[in-house]
Amino acid sequence: MASYIAPVVLVLVFVVIVPLPLVANAQSYRNLTTGSAIMAGDPSTNLLSSSGEFAFGFQTMGSSGFLLAVWFAKISEQTVIWSANGDSLVPKGSKLRLTDDNRLSLDNPSGGEKTVAEQPGSKFAYASMLNTGNLVVMSPLGDVVWETFDHPTDTMLPTQKLGMGSQLVARYSQTNYSDGRFMLAMQGDGNLVLYTLAYPLNSINKAYWATNSVGSGLELVFNQSGQVYLTTSNGTIEIQSNNFSTDGFYQRAVLDSHGIFSQYVYPKSTIPGWSNNWSKVSEPVPPNICTSIAQDVGSGVCGFNSYCTIGDDQSPRCDCPSGYVWLDPDDTVKGCKQDFQPQSCNKTNPEGDKFTFKEMINIDWPLSDYEKYNGQTENWCRQDCLSDCFCAVAIYRDSTCWKKKVPLSNGRTNIAMNGKALVKVRIGDSPFGFGENKQKNKIPLHVVIVGSVLSGGSVCLNLLLVIVTLLTCRRLRSKKADSEQQPVPIEEAGGLRHFKYHEIQEATNGFKEELGRGAFGTVYKGFVTSFLGHGGHVVAVKVLHRLTEKGDIEFKREMRAISQTNHKNLVKLLGYCNDDQHRILIYEYMSNSCLANLLFEDSRPNWYKRIDIAEGVARGLSYLHEECSRHIIHCDIKPQNVLLDDGMVAKISDFGLAKLLVADQTRTLTDVRGTKGYVAPEWFRNMPISAKVDVYSFGIMLLELICCRKNYEPETEDEPEMILANWVWDCYHEGNLDPLVEDDDEALGDKRRVERLVRTALWCIQEDPSLRPTMKKVTLMLEGAVSVPVPPEPCSFLSSV
Ligand SMILES: *[C@@H]1O[C@H](CO)[C@@H](O)[C@H](O)[C@H]1NC(C)=O
Ligand SMILES: *[C@@H]1O[C@H](CO)[C@@H](O)[C@H](O)[C@H]1NC(C)=O
Ligand SMILES: *[C@@H]1O[C@H](CO)[C@@H](O)[C@H](O)[C@H]1NC(C)=O
Ligand SMILES: *[C@@H]1O[C@H](CO)[C@@H](O)[C@H](O)[C@H]1NC(C)=O
Ligand SMILES: *[C@@H]1O[C@H](CO)[C@@H](O)[C@H](O)[C@H]1NC(C)=O
Ligand SMILES: *[C@@H]1O[C@H](CO)[C@@H](O)[C@H](O)[C@H]1NC(C)=O
Ligand SMILES: *[C@@H]1O[C@H](CO)[C@@H](O)[C@H](O)[C@H]1NC(C)=O
Repeated sequence: MASYIAPVVLVLVFVVIVPLPLVANAQSYRNLTTGSAIMAGDPSTNLLSSSGEFAFGFQTMGSSGFLLAVWFAKISEQTVIWSANGDSLVPKGSKLRLTDDNRLSLDNPSGGEKTVAEQPGSKFAYASMLNTGNLVVMSPLGDVVWETFDHPTDTMLPTQKLGMGSQLVARYSQTNYSDGRFMLAMQGDGNLVLYTLAYPLNSINKAYWATNSVGSGLELVFNQSGQVYLTTSNGTIEIQSNNFSTDGFYQRAVLDSHGIFSQYVYPKSTIPGWSNNWSKVSEPVPPNICTSIAQDVGSGVCGFNSYCTIGDDQSPRCDCPSGYVWLDPDDTVKGCKQDFQPQSCNKTNPEGDKFTFKEMINIDWPLSDYEKYNGQTENWCRQDCLSDCFCAVAIYRDSTCWKKKVPLSNGRTNIAMNGKALVKVRIGDSPFGFGENKQKNKIPLHVVIVGSVLSGGSVCLNLLLVIVTLLTCRRLRSKKADSEQQPVPIEEAGGLRHFKYHEIQEATNGFKEELGRGAFGTVYKGFVTSFLGHGGHVVAVKVLHRLTEKGDIEFKREMRAISQTNHKNLVKLLGYCNDDQHRILIYEYMSNSCLANLLFEDSRPNWYKRIDIAEGVARGLSYLHEECSRHIIHCDIKPQNVLLDDGMVAKISDFGLAKLLVADQTRTLTDVRGTKGYVAPEWFRNMPISAKVDVYSFGIMLLELICCRKNYEPETEDEPEMILANWVWDCYHEGNLDPLVEDDDEALGDKRRVERLVRTALWCIQEDPSLRPTMKKVTLMLEGAVSVPVPPEPCSFLSSV
């Protein structure tokens, strides 16, 4: 939803609207008398007000049927003010009649009729659509005997009043006019109250806002100048006001499907600088719906297991927590469900180690707890929830741990909470754990171990500083990729946007802001207008330095391969430029810089975040190696090439570029500065390069993630600690991993996982590529979905220093 602020206006919000076929021309100003009818599917029979601004008749609701309604007739967006049959739409051919026995009757051709209006004791002469938006039924004497203003649905218009005993009921959703989950009641006791309803019944559940005017309130008035107020025996209580004239603007006050009562205006004529749309112009009542509702029974603003976040425009948004998905994506009111098999409560098979937590800051489900513990550490809280099959979410705040069970209710984002939700999810991405489909990817680990024992330490060649001449494109390409090398039709590189060089110059303001330099090129910040011409986004513009001489075809082929990748842990390529000799890539911009900057500085991410990052990178690599249409080896995995987005999701950058490096024999790997420590030994030997080079680099990076330090620290006083891989092996060998995570309480409290991760990393950095697991396997090891056997000593890689 877009929003903007206009001078006098507090908040302007577009309402979701559905285009309405413009049929106004066909309608005419007339009254409905006995003997005539309004037909569903024949707009010419609708009633129009004399001003032409309001219509009464049938609205098409897509394929679902017709809704008998009053609406704004001069507005192209369907804006229903009043409706008669939201819960049971009628088919084409249905008609509304004024019957001889003084009723408005809705007749369904497939049988059945529904009384829309009747007034015992009164005679109905004709019905007329007034210029106020009120549909009235008149007696033969010219008195109003029935009117929609006295029987409102969810909307009030200027001049309308809500007397004692009447109410507005919210619709179910923006486009579903069935009765929904909220009510604004002008009570007989004088109080004006907002209630949640016990959906699907109309019985009231819990009040969440009131004027507290018991004994003095009289009626709710929406007056001619756009003020909404409660009259009392003692003056008025203002509910809402706006500064828009009712002459220049259509106005309405609505109890929306999220339980918010707000006023909207729509300019009657086009005003320069104004968009013709409904705009929210009052402070919503209540001001923050997400934190206003907390009910013992019922789901709250959003559905069960979801949570509510208030937007800048003060309208709420409902989301599923991590690991949960919508029950019905087309009807979010139905809530979310767990996207995994819940924990077993079988006491011989407790499954505690098959679950982990997704951390969500300042998210709470305030009324779903069944246990509460004071004075505990976060780690205690985590362990306790893991070992409890009822526990779906633990909330940790101020040394207090609350356990909650599903379905979770009243979910909301609340920045005042100052705590976090630990959402328990089954380890692994697939809904039902690690069943058969993963089995076939298993490395026979006993074979691996036997192999390593046989080869013993002797394989550990002494890899002293070798100046390497390498990285020809040819070597990088695996056999498989070669066989796939039929000519590809290359007109456009796979739906990417092609930029002219001058566009890039403009976008980067003449390459003004440099974000960084890497092995492949220099990165600049830029801004491009969006593909559709309005708005735009910040991008990262990468100017490649070293390129293959193969030129355009090769470049486009690679762009095509990159553009066909799509994974949440890969940076997205948006476009490219290949004018003349320029080779430039345009990527989405990552706000949180690269992992290297976070990890090796004070702002290091916490233990759980680091695990998330490691798992994310592993999944991204696994995708590149095995799942994307053309298998890609990265060749340069390191923390500088892992970027983090707003949500701290890890994204691998620079993949697919290795093949573009120049096949220049004088170039050496030492040019690739900062990469040395991550380079697999086979680069230095005459060995085929496979995806396992990435596994090696990942292993080194995993050690860095565990210990929050660089793989090589020459300034370290303690020599054994200088090379991280050696130090980790020593610690592991001695059976004491604590020094590795010395000042990290969370990791110290999670020792079993520290050990699992260390073992995984040690497998990844085995000198013999065939001993290293695949990235897919690494993913499972990190998640704890497979056990990680004792690793052999990875030959220490002194040469890289
Ligand atoms: C419809 O009824 C109104 C009174 O409510 C009357 O003034 C008007 O003339 C009628 N219009 C037509 C077209 O009969
Ligand atoms: C409106 O929502 C209710 C509740 O989900 C559903 O039963 C009904 O079919 C919906 N009506 C339409 C027209 O989609
Ligand atoms: C509407 O109500 C406001 C506030 O009570 C008042 O100032 C204004 O004069 C009223 N306008 C009309 C047309 O009655
Ligand atoms: C009348 O209004 C005053 C202040 O506005 C309030 O203190 C008082 O309680 C009200 N009296 C009644 C009967 O509502
Ligand atoms: C309407 O205008 C008056 C004076 O111009 C101002 O005091 C008041 O705050 C405005 N109200 C709103 C809702 O903008
Ligand atoms: C009105 O809102 C709709 C959707 O909210 C949007 O697509 C449209 O561009 C807006 N119209 C104008 C004139 O701003
Ligand atoms: C509980 O788990 C054990 C071990 O996995 C299994 O043998 C047993 O059948 C399970 N019991 C039930 C009731 O599922």
